[in-house]
Amino acid sequence: MSIVAILGAQWGDEGKGKIVDRLASELSSGGLCVRFFGGSNAGHTIWVDGEKFVTHLLPSGIMHRHVLNLVGPAVACDLEVICDELKIAERFGSEVAIDRSAPVVLPLHMLLDGLREDRAGAKKIGTTRRGIGPLYGAFFARNAVRMGDLTNADKVRASLLERGYYEEMAALIQLYGAHAPTCDETVEWCMQFAPKVRPHLADTRRIVCAAIENDRDVLFEGAQGVLLDVFHGSQPDTTSSLCTLAGVNASFGVYQFDRVIGVAKAYATRVGSGPFPSELTDETGDRLRELGHEFGTTTGRPRRCGWLDLPLLAYACRMGGITELAITKADVLSGFETIRVASRYVFEGGVMHDDTFTSRVLRESSIGYRTLSGWKEDSLQGIKTPGAFPTEFHQFLDVIRQGLTRSSDNRIVPITMIGTGPDREDLVVL
Ligand code: GDP
Ligand code: IMO
Ligand code: MG
Repeated sequence: MSIVAILGAQWGDEGKGKIVDRLASELSSGGLCVRFFGGSNAGHTIWVDGEKFVTHLLPSGIMHRHVLNLVGPAVACDLEVICDELKIAERFGSEVAIDRSAPVVLPLHMLLDGLREDRAGAKKIGTTRRGIGPLYGAFFARNAVRMGDLTNADKVRASLLERGYYEEMAALIQLYGAHAPTCDETVEWCMQFAPKVRPHLADTRRIVCAAIENDRDVLFEGAQGVLLDVFHGSQPDTTSSLCTLAGVNASFGVYQFDRVIGVAKAYATRVGSGPFPSELTDETGDRLRELGHEFGTTTGRPRRCGWLDLPLLAYACRMGGITELAITKADVLSGFETIRVASRYVFEGGVMHDDTFTSRVLRESSIGYRTLSGWKEDSLQGIKTPGAFPTEFHQFLDVIRQGLTRSSDNRIVPITMIGTGPDREDLVVL
C-alpha cells in the first residue's frame, strides 16, 4: 500500500491530470484517487485512446473502473460541472463519493467573482471567474451551503439564511451594480442538481481513514500549483486555496506520505495576472505557446510562456513538501538551438537562498540565466528508456538537479518521471 500526493510545482497546468491518470492505473483494486482542494478553476487533461477528457472537479482517476474517486471536504463544488463529470465516471464504470461537508459554489459567488474583476481594471487578478475567491472567503468566514444540504431544500435555505450569508452576498452584488438572484431562486438552482449528486454523498474523511487502516493505496490529486497557493504564491495574484501538501493535511488529517510528486513543465507558463520573471514576450514565447498548445483548459486564454525557473521551482518544492519531481512537456523543447534556465535571483543586492519569493521579490529581483545547447532530435515522443534521451537532454536534467539541491543540507529532489507527449504512454520513468 502507498500514500502518494501529486502537486503542481509551478503556476498550474503542469500536466498533473496525465500523471494522476497514469498512477491511478497502477493503484490496487479499491484504491482511492482524491481531489482535495480548489474547484472548477482547475482543468486537468487526460488523453484516452486518442480521445481528450478534461476533469475540472472530479479526480483524474475516474477513467479507471477499479478506482474509488473522492471529492474532499474542502473542494469548492460547482454542481453543474460535477453533474457533467459524473457522466464521464459512469461511462468508465468508476465510483465517485463526494464529501457532505464540501461547500457549494453558488451563482452568487460566480457573479461576485466577475464583478470584482471588472471593477479592478488594470489591477484585476485574471481569475477564472468560477467563484473561487468569494466561495473560499465565505468558507473561511464559516458560511457555506454544504453538499449534504442538498438532501432537502429547507436545509439549503437555512444555510443561506444563517448569519446573513445570502443577505451579505446579495448586498455586495447590488453594491457593485448588478442584480442578485433571490434566495428562493438560489435554493431552486441548487436543488435542480440534488437528484444527481445525492447518491454520491459520503464522509470522505472516514473513507480515507478506513482505506489507510486497510492498507489500500491512496492517491491525492492537487489542483493549481504551489506558486498559486494562497499562502506561498505571489498574493494577490494567486488562487484562494491550498495547493501544497498542507491541503491534504488540513482536509484529511493525513501527515505521512510515501511519495510527494511535484509536477513541473520543462519550461514555465502562467495564466492571468502576476509577476513572471522568466516570461518571454517575444517570438520564442510564441513558439513555446504554439508547440506546447498553451491555451487555458478552463478558459481558453493564451498562457503566458517563459523559461524554466529553478530558484522558484526549488522554493515550490520546499513550501509544497515535494520530495520528487515529474518533468513534463520535455518534447516541446525539441528543436530549440539553445535553451535557457533561470538560475539566480538577486534581490536588494543579495542572492536569494532559501528566502521567500514574495510578489515584491519576483517584481524587483534581477534574474541570472544559464544557457544550454538544445537537442537536434525533432521529438522525444516515443522514447521509452532514459538511455535513449539525447546527451543535451541529460545535461538539461543535470542543470535542474543542481538548481534543486539545497545548499543548507545538500538535500536533493530527484527527478523520477519525464513527460514526452500528451498521451498516457508518453512517460519515461527514471
Ligand atoms: P494540469 O492542469 O496540470 O492537469 O494540466 P493541463 O491539462 O491544464 O495542461 C497540460 C497540457 O499539456 C494538456 O494539454 C496535456 O494534454 C498536455 N501534456 C501533459 N503532459 C505532456 C507532455 O509530456 N508533453 C506534451 N506535449 N503535452 C503534455
Ligand atoms: P490547474 O489545476 C492555471 C489561476 C487563474 C488566476 C488565478 C486566480 O488546471 O492547474 P481563481 O479562478 O482561482 O480565483 O484564479 O489562478 N488559476 C489557474 N491557472 N491552472 C489552474 O488550475 C488554475 N486555477 C486557477 O488563471 O491567475
Ligand atoms: Mg490545467
